[in-house]
Amino acid sequence: MCGIIGYAGSIRAAPILTQGLTNMEYRGYDSAGVGIHDGRQISIKKDTGKIDEIKERLGIDSLNGNIGIAHTRWATHGKVSQVNAHPHTSCESKVTVVHNGIIDNYQKLRINLETAGHLFISDTDSEVIAHLIEDNFKSSGDYRSSIIAACEVLEGSFAFVVIFKDNADTIFGVRKDAPLILGIGKNENFIASDILAFIKKTDEVIFLENFELVEVSKDSYQIMSLSGEQKIRESVKVAWEASDISRKDFSHFTLKEIHEQQNTIRQSLNQNTNILNDFCDILGNSNKIYIVASGTSLHAGFIAKQLLARVVKIPSEVVIASEFISYADLIDSDSVILAISQSGETADVLDAIRTAKGRRGKIISIVNTPGSSLTRESDQVLFLNCGPEIGVAATKSFTSQLAIIYQLVLILSGRTQDIAELTNISNLVPELLSKEEEVSKICDTFASNTDFYFVGRGLNFTIALEGALKLKELAYVHAEGLAAGELKHGTLALIEEGTPVIVLNPDDETYYETLNNASEMKARGAKIIGISNKPNPIYDYHLQIPTVDRIFYPILEVIILQFLAYYGAISRHHNPDYPRNLAKSVTVK
Ligand code: M6R
Repeated sequence: MCGIIGYAGSIRAAPILTQGLTNMEYRGYDSAGVGIHDGRQISIKKDTGKIDEIKERLGIDSLNGNIGIAHTRWATHGKVSQVNAHPHTSCESKVTVVHNGIIDNYQKLRINLETAGHLFISDTDSEVIAHLIEDNFKSSGDYRSSIIAACEVLEGSFAFVVIFKDNADTIFGVRKDAPLILGIGKNENFIASDILAFIKKTDEVIFLENFELVEVSKDSYQIMSLSGEQKIRESVKVAWEASDISRKDFSHFTLKEIHEQQNTIRQSLNQNTNILNDFCDILGNSNKIYIVASGTSLHAGFIAKQLLARVVKIPSEVVIASEFISYADLIDSDSVILAISQSGETADVLDAIRTAKGRRGKIISIVNTPGSSLTRESDQVLFLNCGPEIGVAATKSFTSQLAIIYQLVLILSGRTQDIAELTNISNLVPELLSKEEEVSKICDTFASNTDFYFVGRGLNFTIALEGALKLKELAYVHAEGLAAGELKHGTLALIEEGTPVIVLNPDDETYYETLNNASEMKARGAKIIGISNKPNPIYDYHLQIPTVDRIFYPILEVIILQFLAYYGAISRHHNPDYPRNLAKSVTVK
């Protein structure tokens, strides 16, 4: 989703800002722009398309000026167009703004401002911010208070960075329910929605809290509350492999991240014992556990629920984060909310945990991104430790989530002797990676098919859901994940000659029943792609996986499915790193 960055320093801002935007490309965007203050005026350059092309076409990097702001836009209000791209400016071009979030009451504010004579040129919600600040500035003549007064009437979520024509030294940033981070450098400072925007320049950061305003020049910064009270905040060093954002020799980040899983699974298991035990105490002592997540992280949540039930014998509910409000009345001080999120910034998840917190629920989280809003708003956190995930499709973060869930479940059930087998799972990853070429050939065979079905039972059903999500996301084909037993209750009607069906069928207690379902589909013309440690003539294609304890199959199966989605995209000539319409970090509801 939208990425924002502001720079105040002693060298030219433009190349630093465009590099920052490139580092945030993975978040997903459709247009980009910069506003650079050259000491006299602010030049705005923006357009639709890719950052590299826009930068070249508009000559952005040669703009002069040592302060500026920049933005990647993921359209929410107003179509993808040059005029709707950020930055936005006010009528008299005195105020220039980049914004991430959604201003819920923008229509009302816009009407009021238009009635007062303001002229709008875009269809965005964000433009109201610039006009509001300009309006306030006219009466107060004060930068901070004009921003604060604007914040007082804005409803919704926002993080924005502002520069003023009459102030060539300072950038201002403010946040409410959208991330904003101050990066502290030497003779230069940054404000951005993402550490990756400036990580090559500084690893010293302050994560701004909701309703904080920061005023930044090249050699100083001040943080204050929206009531004007000064805040003293300690900076922290981001001790993360955060600067590891290169593709290395891989053709795409997604492929690199699939290949990294031998290491990342191992890293995720390397947890602080006290925190692990604390998690286990909290989970083990509650009979009101709600697991909350979205997308792929939600699938990790389903695995957690099944394992808690089958292995630990404790009940839990999985709630889709965006649907949490329907369950809010059940939350009280005995409730535990286990939030799972790669980014820690998913708006639906944050909204859910804030609702639960308001009802005194305890929040524990499994998160990848250090310093993210979810980590700061949780009572206890386990980190995935899998490094930045740049590909929009969640790959290594999912297997890391599973690894941590397994670890918790084994401790909770007293099966600590099985942790050695869990640790050994990472050593099996190369065997799965060796299937890459086989999977890519299968994808070429089915490159013109438009409907795919993924089936499995038990834990494998959840992996069927994940495989289907991944294929939809990267290859833009219809894909459905189903409990194998449900087929005959309806979906079997869609199976016809040549329909590809991916059958997740490890040799566990579900093996023969799932095989029967595969036979039923094959009898109706389906092409069966079996993912199993046990070959069978029913499979038209068989992708062999290693034999492990039955609870660990998901973590192995999914790696094959990640390849299937990746090569599904490649065989259709799509870029798997930047699937259309999607954003890595979904910071709006
Ligand atoms: O950062 P999160 O784990 O909270 O993100 C949740 C979903 O947006 C995410 O998993 C999404 O479904 C992935 N792009 C799927 O590959």
